[in-house]
Amino acid sequence: MANNFNRQFAERVKELRASDVRELLKLLQVPGMISFAGGFPNPETFPVDLIRQIVDDVLTKDGPNALQYGITEGYAPLREAIADRMGKKGVDTPKDNVLVVTGSQQVIDLVGKVFIDPKDVVVVSSPTYLAALTGFSVYQAGYESVPIDKEGIRMDLLEDRMKKMGKRGRPPKLLYAVPNFLNPAGVTMPEKNRKKLVDLASDYDFLILEDDPYGDLRYIGIHIRPVKAFDDEGRVIYMSTFSKILSPGLRVGWVVADAEILRRMVIAKQSSDVCTSVLSQRIAHEYLARGLVDPQIEKIKKIYGRKLNVMLKGMDEFMPSGLNWIKPEGGMFLWVTLPENVDSGDLLTRALKKKVAFVQGKAFFADPKDGRNTMRLNFTHPSDELITEGLRRLGSAVNQEIISKWDKSAEAEEKQMADAVKGSLIGKS
Ligand SMILES: Cc1ncc(COP(=O)(O)O)c(C=O)c1O
Repeated sequence: MANNFNRQFAERVKELRASDVRELLKLLQVPGMISFAGGFPNPETFPVDLIRQIVDDVLTKDGPNALQYGITEGYAPLREAIADRMGKKGVDTPKDNVLVVTGSQQVIDLVGKVFIDPKDVVVVSSPTYLAALTGFSVYQAGYESVPIDKEGIRMDLLEDRMKKMGKRGRPPKLLYAVPNFLNPAGVTMPEKNRKKLVDLASDYDFLILEDDPYGDLRYIGIHIRPVKAFDDEGRVIYMSTFSKILSPGLRVGWVVADAEILRRMVIAKQSSDVCTSVLSQRIAHEYLARGLVDPQIEKIKKIYGRKLNVMLKGMDEFMPSGLNWIKPEGGMFLWVTLPENVDSGDLLTRALKKKVAFVQGKAFFADPKDGRNTMRLNFTHPSDELITEGLRRLGSAVNQEIISKWDKSAEAEEKQMADAVKGSLIGKS
């Protein structure tokens, strides 16, 4: 007998919806499909031979320890090397305030576990990283969404929202932000806004979760210090990852936080996975210790910077007027706004028939009614040739979708006129 296990499922998972992106990824197996949908690094950048060499060296020198459980906080030399790297980015931290995690996605879960009670409000940008929304939703968070402009979350609106939330008796505990090259919109928060954000956190007593997976992937302009660099009250929890600068398959990320916050996160992590894969940590450590990570970042930046240019050229060439997109200075995504009356869901159906895929922008909004005419395009995974061909197909799908909307509105207008004429004739007769 079929069973939906409704009696057994916890209340908190009953409301969870499968991510549109995960569902879409299943469709991408169709042969010949060109995908701008995923958020995958390009495998061309993975240093397979170097990792093989490192694994061989680690297992030869210290095999039994590399294959053993480790302490929850992480492999001490890796924590040290990460602390050192953070210093170079403008964040001075002792190694004891660094926790190694199983992909930075784990930080979202740990922050949820440690801070979020049902209905607690998390402030997010609108749009924001989809898996942060799903991650906090597991803990039954509520959201306060603040729109973005080219400088990320709109600071002019934020303070007002904080005041309103306080008045409603639900001041937020946490603000989640991706200040560098926001996934999905590619925008970057300038330094003055980062400082202001820390001031607001202090004035309105909330914490900031600063998610920075893309900070090293800057193709244009100069590095901006993390929000954490301006934090002298321990309110900023900073997270980053080796996924985009080495390999996502290793599942190694890190968090830098105040000692008390970190202590609670360590306890929460113990019950999640005991520790992050020691072998993966050892690989990441050797990578840093041998000075290989910076040349690797340079290599990735060269490839992705070139792909971004191919993408922008293709957008200019193939997209009709009426579309807007934000030119990112780094990261992996291009965010496109379609004309108001074009629904990116209808466009996706049309695009898939032409064997090209993207992610509907609405997936990245806490309120699924928002962002209907937006889409996210990944430019790091397809080859240069496929980017151009994919945009040619997508441009044609967009054109057809816009024309079909005109036809429909012209049809509706004609019908309206005919009805009006009919009405006036009836009135006369
Ligand atoms: C904004 C953002 N945060 C966190 C992650 C998680 O990365 P990982 O768990 O591989 O470190 C990603 C991955 O795409 C991301 O885009």
